Amino acid sequence: MTEISLVVNGRAVKGQAEGRVLLVQFLRETLGLTGTHVGCDTSQCGACVVHVDGRAVKSCTMLAAQADGSQITTIEGIARGQDLHPVQAAFREHHGLQCGYCTPGMIMTAVDMIRRHDGVLDEKTVRDELDGNICRCTGYHNIVKAVLAAAEAMRVEPASQRVAAE
Ligand code: FES
Ligand code: FES
Repeated sequence: MTEISLVVNGRAVKGQAEGRVLLVQFLRETLGLTGTHVGCDTSQCGACVVHVDGRAVKSCTMLAAQADGSQITTIEGIARGQDLHPVQAAFREHHGLQCGYCTPGMIMTAVDMIRRHDGVLDEKTVRDELDGNICRCTGYHNIVKAVLAAAEAMRVEPASQRVAAE
């Protein structure tokens, strides 16, 4: 067992994990952060996306031990109290989900995408960049609409500060 120290959603946490434990398992099973989902065993679905040191990462592709010392943000960490993150709000407003299984990964991917593009996105870019996130329900149209709407909202203060702040 290895002791792993992380900052998760702004809080310092420690836990023990065997070397073979994946980051997604550590988040879900050791820390109880079950908002990060596991939708495949082939690293294709993107349901497990979290941010590691500010970048979107499929947490099933990384060992927990590799993340030691990192700053992790999960879906549980992006709202501000009762205020949804603009991407969460846009998914709700534009009906960007049905069963919701893919949604945490979609949202974490979208937050990273919007930040990397400074909120300037078009439909083709959003569709291309969601290539690593599979939704089995929606047909993607409303997800794409939600990401574009969130990007627009986050170009306007004060939401844009949230993109840069993480
Ligand atoms: S569970 Fe990580 S990509 Fe599917
Ligand atoms: S909303 Fe059901 S898998 Fe995407």
